[in-house]
Amino acid sequence: MADLTVQSKHFLSDKVERFTESVIREMTRQALLHGAINLSQGFPDFPAPAEIKKAAQDAIANDINQYAITWGAKNLRNAIARKMKDWQGISVDPETQVTVCCGSTETIVSTLLAVCNAGDEVIIFEPFYENYGPDSIVSGAKPVFVKLRPPASPDGEWTFDERELRSAFRPHTKAIVVNTPNNPTGKVFARAELELIRDLCMEFNVLAITDEIYEHILYDGARHISIASLPGMEDRTVTINGLSKTYAVTGWRVGWAVAPPAITNAIRKVHDFLTVGAPAPLQDAGATALGLPASYYQNLAAAYGARRDRLIPTLEAAGFRCFRPRGAYYVMTDISAFGFADDVSFVKYLVQEIGVAAVPGSSFYNNPRDGAQQVRFAFCKRAETLDAAAEKLAALRPRKN
Ligand SMILES: Cc1ncc(COP(=O)(O)O)c(C=O)c1O
Repeated sequence: MADLTVQSKHFLSDKVERFTESVIREMTRQALLHGAINLSQGFPDFPAPAEIKKAAQDAIANDINQYAITWGAKNLRNAIARKMKDWQGISVDPETQVTVCCGSTETIVSTLLAVCNAGDEVIIFEPFYENYGPDSIVSGAKPVFVKLRPPASPDGEWTFDERELRSAFRPHTKAIVVNTPNNPTGKVFARAELELIRDLCMEFNVLAITDEIYEHILYDGARHISIASLPGMEDRTVTINGLSKTYAVTGWRVGWAVAPPAITNAIRKVHDFLTVGAPAPLQDAGATALGLPASYYQNLAAAYGARRDRLIPTLEAAGFRCFRPRGAYYVMTDISAFGFADDVSFVKYLVQEIGVAAVPGSSFYNNPRDGAQQVRFAFCKRAETLDAAAEKLAALRPRKN
């Protein structure tokens, strides 16, 4: 058996040896195994809007069941261009600037594969959504991390150091990944921060790859700004988004990139040979989703605000120090009060003994030690689920004296 393992290892690529399976997805499996309430992976446990479910059913009944155009069904690309114009004031040609992929997950890796050469560097703010690390490695690039520092007070904002960011821009830097609203911190990048990133991208001739999947999930009057809307960035930005979070359809796997035509061509080539296309009937329903009225997005943000305000007091009462998010649907917490050696042992205890699944903070950092006293909770859940979690978390008490 041991020999077989050695033999199998011989067949593995160096790249795949450099990252692990997703910890976030592993925590969902742990939740199922232990019958725990799942506040780990970011998928809603409430239904998607009825009109878009009906649109998907109609699309299948109307025989939209064969391959769509590889870079996206025309009606969805048109809807994406219209929405970018309406919400961000960005003019987009749906024929030459939009690529629809299997979720923003495939879009991000297709983009990195399309733009990176071996030895290129990609700047990533950390803590970061865990896919960005392996995505960079798979595309042959070297991730370079810039710290987002937690606020001193629970209501403060995560910030980065301007000098540290500047020093990350180097001769081999190809791109910077900006995720706003941000997972896991809930940070919404301010205009001045985006302008600074813009200035550095222009000075060092760097591409911005911006993941805006939580663009409509905003609190406390926060405003989402697409970096592509800043003067000078139209020719050096790939804007990535998708249906998953805004329309509560994470299982549909529809996402897209909006980019200048030459970059779009490159992304389309990679996407074509990776997956050919995203599910055709769900792209058709996606066009309906993107046509929902403005009130849909207002209600979405308000409903998430209520969920945030339901979970945070529960966590605080149980002993967590919460970093209050301005956007997205996660709360990053500090677990120092519980006196555990690290986040992984704490999360194990939480899922097995308390009955709640969360994500260890270390999975969002390059160096696990940096997240060893942090844990992330997702609140994209029904009130009943959050209340059931509150009951379980009441059994948790700070242990440190
Ligand atoms: C920042 C971020 N980007 C991308 C994704 C994945 O999105 P999709 O379902 O479109 O692949 C997630 C999912 O949690 C996310 O948090």
